[in-house]
Amino acid sequence: MLQRVVRSTIIDAPIERIWAVLRDFNSHDQWHSAVDQSRIEGDERSDQVGCVRSFTLKDGNRIREQLLTLSDTEHTSTYCIVDATVPLQRYVAALSLKPVTDGNRTFWHWESTFATPPGRERELHDMVAQGVYEAGFEDLRRHLAQGADLRPQGSVGQSSAMPSAMALPTRRVVVDRYGDAEVLRAENAEAPAPREGEVRIRQRAIGVNFFDVYLRRGWMPSMFPVSAREPGVLGMEAAGTVIDVGANVSGILPGDRVAYLGPVPGAYASVRCVPAAWVVRLPASVEDDTAAATLLKGITADFLLRDLGHVGPGTRLLVHAAAGGVGLLVCAWARRLGATVLGTVSSDEKARVARAHGCEQVIVTRDYRFADAVQHACGGADVLIDGLGDAARDENLAALARRGHWISLGQASGPLTPLPPDALVAKSLTFSRPVVFDYVATNAQLVERAQRVWNALADGTILPPTIERYSLDAASRAHARLESRGSIGALILTP
Ligand SMILES: NC(=O)c1ccc[n+]([C@@H]2O[C@H](COP(=O)([O-])OP(=O)(O)OC[C@H]3O[C@@H](n4cnc5c(N)ncnc54)[C@H](OP(=O)(O)O)[C@@H]3O)[C@@H](O)[C@H]2O)c1
Repeated sequence: MLQRVVRSTIIDAPIERIWAVLRDFNSHDQWHSAVDQSRIEGDERSDQVGCVRSFTLKDGNRIREQLLTLSDTEHTSTYCIVDATVPLQRYVAALSLKPVTDGNRTFWHWESTFATPPGRERELHDMVAQGVYEAGFEDLRRHLAQGADLRPQGSVGQSSAMPSAMALPTRRVVVDRYGDAEVLRAENAEAPAPREGEVRIRQRAIGVNFFDVYLRRGWMPSMFPVSAREPGVLGMEAAGTVIDVGANVSGILPGDRVAYLGPVPGAYASVRCVPAAWVVRLPASVEDDTAAATLLKGITADFLLRDLGHVGPGTRLLVHAAAGGVGLLVCAWARRLGATVLGTVSSDEKARVARAHGCEQVIVTRDYRFADAVQHACGGADVLIDGLGDAARDENLAALARRGHWISLGQASGPLTPLPPDALVAKSLTFSRPVVFDYVATNAQLVERAQRVWNALADGTILPPTIERYSLDAASRAHARLESRGSIGALILTP
């Protein structure tokens, strides 16, 4: 008959701090008094499902255990004994953490089932219950109280919300030379403790933006300098859970679900510190994937239509890459505002999706020929949202109506050749070259715009985003897909 051992306790520490220790399958020799030395076999990471830890106990016994599951969202893991000198047979264990609603405390549940040789049931049951689980609870409490998980990082003061100075393991995607998607490389690193004004986030979903491609190609070296000695990390936005906060951070606590965007790249990582001013708390109704797919792109749609385009009933709006991450949001939102929405896409499949998101007239073209179709359909565009860049330059001028406004958002086809003022004078055109970060320059602006995006999602103004998901390690595949012109909607990376 299988033995079952169940133990639970409450630890006086926030869930993310405890999880930072427990999710590391090789950390137990640092905090559990029964464990002598432990190592992960082979080349595996210590949070990689399938990895095997091989350790000796203080009493001389040797055990090999395999990590079976690990969920950063649920704060759970399961593992089993592969072989051992202690006669615990078919041993499978599960641990889970849950935040206690009052205060920064955590409920820790630990249980296992196993078989024993006849006559040794009681002895082995007690060994697991007391020697492993109950001792483990006490040992981890002591470990946290001593700050033994905290590695000093200088003398920066900490907020009372969460004293912390530990570096945490992170998985990140680096670039050490500019080039095509293959230059993206995943590696293990450490995320330092948050400094004054910063929060450290365990990221669950990371937004991929075409802007990341420009940086990777080396089109903006001053914003993204890279070298073999100092590789850069891409990524402008992500969503996740706050692990801890630095000094002078108010309104954000460990355990809060948040999303952010900001003008300094570095989001392609599982753990990252960012200024608290970049961060907005997420409503329960917005999941991490949705937030990463819509925050930067939705705020872009908001400022394009509201602040720059002044789009309203009857506006003739032309949207390029209408089935892209930004494009779908712009189409749906503009339609709700009463605009006549025209869009360009490169395939029939994209045309179908763009139509479903409110684009009434879709022009399918792979070679940037659309001006005649636009003039024919509506007499020219009042507002043009252009993320294509140079290949569409002359057609854009031809597609605009008198006093039309060309909003040059990006340059997926290549950097725009400079536009002489005389190119605009024939139809009294105007030209804008906006960047989203200037529209969320303060946290108040960010919170206000993010709220408009969540409201637009909640009331159906924009549809739940179409999302293509890639693991963090598969970032190069995500980039290749975005550059292939095949992707529809938003792409995200999941650490
Ligand atoms: N300025 C800002 O603040 C800001 C903020 C967000 C986004 N943006 C810009 O908005 C645009 C859309 O961004 P996104 O992240 O949502 O990307 P996206 O639209 O999902 O993907 C880019 C799309 O551009 C089109 N495209 C046309 N020629 C291309 C080429 N030669 N190579 C690759 N793609 C090409 C493709 O659609 P079709 O095949 O259907 O033509 C492709 O799907 C980008 O230009 C981006 O830089 C700017």
